[in-house]
Amino acid sequence: MTDSYAVIGNPIGHTKSPLIHSTFARQTGQDIEYVAIEGRTGGFREDAETFRQAGGRGMNVTAPFKLDAFAYATDLSERAQMAGAVNALKFDGEHIHAENFDGIGLVRDIVHNLGCPMQGKRVLLLGAGGAARGALLPFLRQKPAQLLVVNRTLSKAQTLVEQFKDYAEGDFSCCSYPELGDVSERFDLVINATSASLRGELPPVHTGVFAPGCLAYELAYGKGLTPFLKLAQGAGAGWLADGVGMLVEQAAEAFEWWRGVRPETATVIKSLTVPLT
Ligand code: ATR
Repeated sequence: MTDSYAVIGNPIGHTKSPLIHSTFARQTGQDIEYVAIEGRTGGFREDAETFRQAGGRGMNVTAPFKLDAFAYATDLSERAQMAGAVNALKFDGEHIHAENFDGIGLVRDIVHNLGCPMQGKRVLLLGAGGAARGALLPFLRQKPAQLLVVNRTLSKAQTLVEQFKDYAEGDFSCCSYPELGDVSERFDLVINATSASLRGELPPVHTGVFAPGCLAYELAYGKGLTPFLKLAQGAGAGWLADGVGMLVEQAAEAFEWWRGVRPETATVIKSLTVPLT
């Protein structure tokens, strides 16, 4: 019997998830169908229940429903709990299991695909919203020597440091953008987890933060050379990456969680890559 999965979000027209999951299914011989559902504002629970009651086996959850999915779940993983948000659901009888694979997808892309181990490295994370929060536990588990969180609204970064500090083995702290001007370190990995690039804006970060040859990673996907990546390029970053690898890796994590088989990601990432020009 064909098992049903879906991605739910609003808007959802741009989603690559059906393409990614149907490619994974073909590749691994899994009999699944995967559709996109435009969830209604304020109607997440009802829309997800309709899909579940019709026999749906699992869902990916995207903006703006990651907090609604958190509230809807009956069984939250540690990752989902710490992220405070859910991006994948698995239905099993009365249980609604919930996960958050965004951060682990990002780490897999950085460490495995881009070949940039985080252990012992100096990492600068820009942003303290949902995307940054989802990345923190997987990042700290990589044991960076330093993880500095910078945010426009400093109090949000301070809250995150307080919440995650017990997981840190290295130096884990936060500051504001003006304070970043006084930080003399350069960073091996600079990650833009702000939503600035979605509006073509540049977070107010200065060129001195990029260590020569560092990796500059833009979480936004398919935006080409964003103002952040341009700045990094001009500052001598060794590699530039956007979030296409993270998108495919988080999908692979969900697929394996649902189906018990790990799909191959490299060719899917290649097929979805938009040149950074
Ligand atoms: P997401 O789920 O994409 O993380 P979010 O939770 O709304 O979205 O968080 C957006 C993040 O981008 C926040 O850290 C925000 O900073 P504030 O907390 O100060 O609002 C950050 N951000 C958005 N636009 C920015 C800009 N132009 N410069 C710097 N930071 C920006």
